[in-house]
Amino acid sequence: MITVNEKEHVFHLNNGRISYLLYVMDSGQMGHLYFGKALHTGGSYLHMVEKAHRPMTTYITEGDLYTSYEHLRQEYPVYGTSDYRYPALEVQGTDGSSICKPEYHSYVIVSGKKPLEGLPATYVEDDGEAETLEILMRDEWLGLEITLSYTIFRDCDAIARSVRFVNQGKNPLFLDRAMSLSLDYPDADWESVQLSGSWARERSVVTKKLEPGVTAVSSMRGNSSHQHNPFLALKRKDATEHAGEVCGFSLVYSGNFLAQAEVDNYNVLRVMLGINPFGFRWKLEPGESFVTPEAVMVWSCEGMNGMSRQFHTLYRERLARGYWRDRERPVLINNWEATAFDYVEEDLIRFALKAKECGIELFVLDDGWFGARNNDRAGLGDWRANPAKLPNGIKGLADQIEALGMKFGLWFEPEMVNRDSDLFRAHPDYIIQTPGRTPSHGRNQFVLDFSRREVVDEIYGQMYILLSQAKISYIKWDMNRSISECYSSAFPADRQGEIFHRYILGVYSLHERLIQAFPKLLIESCSSGGGRFDAGMLYYAPQGWTSDDSDAIERLKIQYGTSLVYPVSCMGAHVSACPNSQVGRSTPIETRGNVAMTGAFGYELDLNKLSEEELKTVKQQIAFYKQNRGLFAQGSFYRLLSPFEGNFAAWEMAERDGSRALVTVTRILSEINGPYRRIPLLGLNPDRKYRICSRYLSYDAYGDELMQFGLMLEDQASGQVIEGSGGSGSCEDFRSLVYEIMAI
Ligand code: GLA
Repeated sequence: MITVNEKEHVFHLNNGRISYLLYVMDSGQMGHLYFGKALHTGGSYLHMVEKAHRPMTTYITEGDLYTSYEHLRQEYPVYGTSDYRYPALEVQGTDGSSICKPEYHSYVIVSGKKPLEGLPATYVEDDGEAETLEILMRDEWLGLEITLSYTIFRDCDAIARSVRFVNQGKNPLFLDRAMSLSLDYPDADWESVQLSGSWARERSVVTKKLEPGVTAVSSMRGNSSHQHNPFLALKRKDATEHAGEVCGFSLVYSGNFLAQAEVDNYNVLRVMLGINPFGFRWKLEPGESFVTPEAVMVWSCEGMNGMSRQFHTLYRERLARGYWRDRERPVLINNWEATAFDYVEEDLIRFALKAKECGIELFVLDDGWFGARNNDRAGLGDWRANPAKLPNGIKGLADQIEALGMKFGLWFEPEMVNRDSDLFRAHPDYIIQTPGRTPSHGRNQFVLDFSRREVVDEIYGQMYILLSQAKISYIKWDMNRSISECYSSAFPADRQGEIFHRYILGVYSLHERLIQAFPKLLIESCSSGGGRFDAGMLYYAPQGWTSDDSDAIERLKIQYGTSLVYPVSCMGAHVSACPNSQVGRSTPIETRGNVAMTGAFGYELDLNKLSEEELKTVKQQIAFYKQNRGLFAQGSFYRLLSPFEGNFAAWEMAERDGSRALVTVTRILSEINGPYRRIPLLGLNPDRKYRICSRYLSYDAYGDELMQFGLMLEDQASGQVIEGSGGSGSCEDFRSLVYEIMAI
């Protein structure tokens, strides 16, 4: 997959569908040539380099009025040596200078892909699945060695990049900026797509025309954040959901990030992704090394959805890992929205009994079970059961749940502590805080300094005791505030710029230790809903709580946006009570089930409060989900109608061989006497005949008809009460239907 033109020093990564081309410039810096649809191998490509004499330009070599980094497309640009755009790298030497001149030294090509120590990353299961190019560069003056690493995958149109730095010199160096990826496009005729939002309104799709200057999203919160996701896409202006050229960039990281697109005066576009340089400064002592997080870029000519399918396949199969990666996920019930902190063991058993009766497989006990946790002002840090609520302890409760034939899961917020806790009283110095400054709180809690090994050890020790004593099959790992006054008393002044990153490394290390000790444990990540819903977390936790907003109609947008990058199998999605506790909306139980089912499915309400009719529906939903969860987990996901653009949301999960599909259509507001509607489907076999079934109809059609003419939507909105159609209810707001399409 990787070929080298030794004469021209051109490297070509090509898997038959995509190409990535880079070369060594005469100056020694690495230049970029191309990323996109596969090109012929073996050609000469250096004519792609565009440069011209322009006034008011700084040139690299005296006597040469053509060669300026400002005009050259590069792989890993630096500032201050004739390029005035934002660089990928900034290094300061002990003399205070910040000029760096990395020059090509050598390359190696290795089969497969090496792990990134201490960091989440995509992987391969056998070496034939990928090939990796490592370009070694050196700045002799600084004694800095830089290895740019590029992995191309055989079965996925993605390239994974990371950069490793080693200080081979005699003096310390400071990395002030070390991006994971930088890419210079020859033109800027793209739109950028980002996922932005807020608590309970995560990952809305925001599309912008690129203009001269910088477009960026970032986090400076310590977590990847509700506000912006570590992701950016470029789409051609005429690209649609299913056609046209799209490039996607995703950072496999859960902390502060920057995703930036800069358009210069020659309409050249520089895309950058990595740890946010704001507040970042990493000291490299002689002999020390630093590795950036991994950035993944994908290319598709099948529109936004094509990009998403590349991410879904790679992240589901070669980022998520371990026991649960390919296993069917249990249907769960979580008590949080039903009880908050207010419960005792008997309430939980009552919940569990009803859940078992409905076919639910996993009972999850949320916040409030430990220490003095009767509200959010106390208890975090004391991971021991509260005997007033749980007289038999966690073990006693877990045993009872297991005896019912269900699995037991437990909520933790490992990174946090309340002032009112034994842990804080014993170790007030364990929190992140700046000397002489009052630490700010979030939800009355403080962030434990996970950059310190002994702090992580303490929490690991507490969790280990519980997990080894009681039968705990699942944990929900929450994180309910961002970091402020970032500083660690364990590190010297010149290493304080490392703390945000060291914190995340500490979080990853705790995950890793738990996974190693309890390989069958299913971990669901959470951060006040989706405040840390990123590819980094997916490596440790194959599912995440998508949002604290569990209203089915709000979830249409949240899950739709999230699906740009993340597979539906990792999106925790629950049926909750009505009126919904976040937005006060009442939606039919069918709609709540249909929306949640396209995710890691569960319930979050007191089933004892449902009517017989509703319980019947719940049982049917669970049975239906169990029959279809293989498809929901492994199928190809197609977005059909965007809730960001109209009154409908529709999506399809299709078996990869096209033999079956489920299409979920939700009409948000009722409409009267509306138009006839059809939705062209995708991923079917044009030559096969299918049976289309929904609650109200059944007919047969060929795949070509379903993909060209489209799936005809039932006219439940005409205002008529049709016999057998479910009555006037079908004309209400917030109705949804699942169509089953099965090859016959
Ligand atoms: C966060 C989570 C919720 C719930 C509460 C408990 O907000 O996102 O799902 O676990 O914490 O305090």
